[in-house]
Amino acid sequence: MTQVWQTSPDKPDETIISAAADVLKGGGLVAFPTETVYGLGAILTHQGAIERIFRVKNRPPSDPLIVHLADPDQARDWAQDLPKSYFVLSQQFLPGPLTLVVKKRERVPDIVTAGRDTVALRVPSHPVARALLRETAVPVAAPSANLFGRPSPTTADHVLADLRGKIEGLIDAGPTPCGVESTVLDITQSPPVLLRPGGVPKERLEEVLGVPILFSFTPSPDEAAAKRAPGRFLRHYAPSIPVLLSDGTADALIQIALAAQVSGEADKPVGLLVPDDWAATIKEAFRSSRRPPILYHWGQWGDWEEMAKRLFQGLRWLERQGVSAIVAPLPNEDGMGLALRDRLLRASARPSSPPSADWGP
Ligand code: TXA
Ligand code: MG
Repeated sequence: MTQVWQTSPDKPDETIISAAADVLKGGGLVAFPTETVYGLGAILTHQGAIERIFRVKNRPPSDPLIVHLADPDQARDWAQDLPKSYFVLSQQFLPGPLTLVVKKRERVPDIVTAGRDTVALRVPSHPVARALLRETAVPVAAPSANLFGRPSPTTADHVLADLRGKIEGLIDAGPTPCGVESTVLDITQSPPVLLRPGGVPKERLEEVLGVPILFSFTPSPDEAAAKRAPGRFLRHYAPSIPVLLSDGTADALIQIALAAQVSGEADKPVGLLVPDDWAATIKEAFRSSRRPPILYHWGQWGDWEEMAKRLFQGLRWLERQGVSAIVAPLPNEDGMGLALRDRLLRASARPSSPPSADWGP
């Protein structure tokens, strides 16, 4: 049984926070909102609970978990040799949607870091997450609260769709404000390496650090680099149906949607993530179509922040409408556009198995 508690996002109900913290301290799994997506929490030092996170998500044990702290200063207890950039970045961005990969202390359990000598630290800004982390006192390891490879959950319903009955608790505080996961930055290397674009844009990090940050969409064939970026399996964030991408114009989207209609299952419509300002043009283009596409309104084209908020919601919603495929235009790389591109490119990658040595219990 999964107990669901409802609370306001701004003023978390103290009795709920304390009940959820008790479940965590007893070794249970509790999903909770952060400003990015819902996380699936377990107490960092509870071996059995951490093992269960991997099992219930069906996550390969080679993919390490992010450690969530109540406060940036707690990093000293779990990390060593913190570089100056840790303090510069935490001063500017924490609490907030930025995860920093640093050198770990011995006491961080190996299962959490998948045997690495680094640990990913994050201080979420969502009031519910903060209250919960203060109450547990011990940090909470938390991946996104979805089945491995599926779109991340931005509402409590998404969490229940993937994990109902498999976890002890869920704090429902409504939709998460950012909608895509935190930016993951490895600051053990110089220059720093962006492992995952997310809630804090790359340009803002570069501005504050005063150095360019390395980033590449394609996972490196170099084994050492792949080890540093364990989460970059190509197919990820994917609904159960094909995701097709077009260039960023209404015409290009229409062309790909028409092609998808022809090649898709005849009795099912195609689903489109449609910028609000293109909706009229798209509807007009399919006016005489026998099976017009189902449209999900994705926000104004170029308003990457609003589109980030709605991305995973849109993928899951269209999937539930029974469409044969989802077609989306690919945003530019500026600001939060980079995170949108990353999630869409990976959602659209063809299924392929991750390296077999990495897989299995
Ligand atoms: O916004 C977020 O970061 C959400 C919320 C719940 O906090 N969490 C999240 O966790 O997205 P997860 O597990 O879905 O993604 C964590 C990413 C993975 O790609 C993982 O490989 C990477 O962080 N990661 C964790 N520890 C790492 C480490 N020591 N070195 C490199 N990458 C690491
Ligand atoms: Mg995830």
